[in-house]
Amino acid sequence: MKRASERELLIINIINLRHYGLGTHKQVDDYQYGGGAGMVMMCEPLDNCISDLKSHHEYDEIIFLTPDGNTFDQKIANRLSCRNKLLLICGHYKGIDQRIRDMHVTLEISVGDYVLSGGELAAAIVTDAIGRLIPGVLNDETSALTDSFQDNLLAPPVYTRPYDYKGLKVPEVLLSGNDKFIEEWRFDTSLKNTEIKRPDLLD
Ligand code: ADE
Repeated sequence: MKRASERELLIINIINLRHYGLGTHKQVDDYQYGGGAGMVMMCEPLDNCISDLKSHHEYDEIIFLTPDGNTFDQKIANRLSCRNKLLLICGHYKGIDQRIRDMHVTLEISVGDYVLSGGELAAAIVTDAIGRLIPGVLNDETSALTDSFQDNLLAPPVYTRPYDYKGLKVPEVLLSGNDKFIEEWRFDTSLKNTEIKRPDLLD
């Protein structure tokens, strides 16, 4: 991501919502209506912030990171990597006022069925997964195409030197120099691994 930013293949702007906070304390959260533990991020600072950003940029997607969103996967990463401008909103506390979701958010993403203390780590995960798909970000541009999940299969195992490590040898086919056999071995191993570890992907 550092190299991508330096080459301006990916430009990341981090906005501190506190700058849009209310009053002398720059308040951004308040108690929730109906009672219950946990604070909620208020409409006004978020709306002012998002509206301000929208007046300067045309966003392809306004994404809210939230445990009740669509589970992030490679398909969503691929789709988002083709977009130009994304706005990622990181929630905190109990979440954000529903009206902000109704007014501004176009896509809700969860990075998994667990709750983080804020959306920042989720945003970093999404940014990393999208960023590495932008042409020129990876050294070897083709390597993202052979990642796990790109064709609903887990990636095949990989080996490097030495050939024999403590008696564990590299599969012979990989030393054969026969591209067709190697390709077939990789596909078969991917399929077998996926059947064993992630049969749900084959559905
Ligand atoms: N914020 C808190 N937990 C989250 C999760 N699992 N995914 C996305 N954003 C979150």
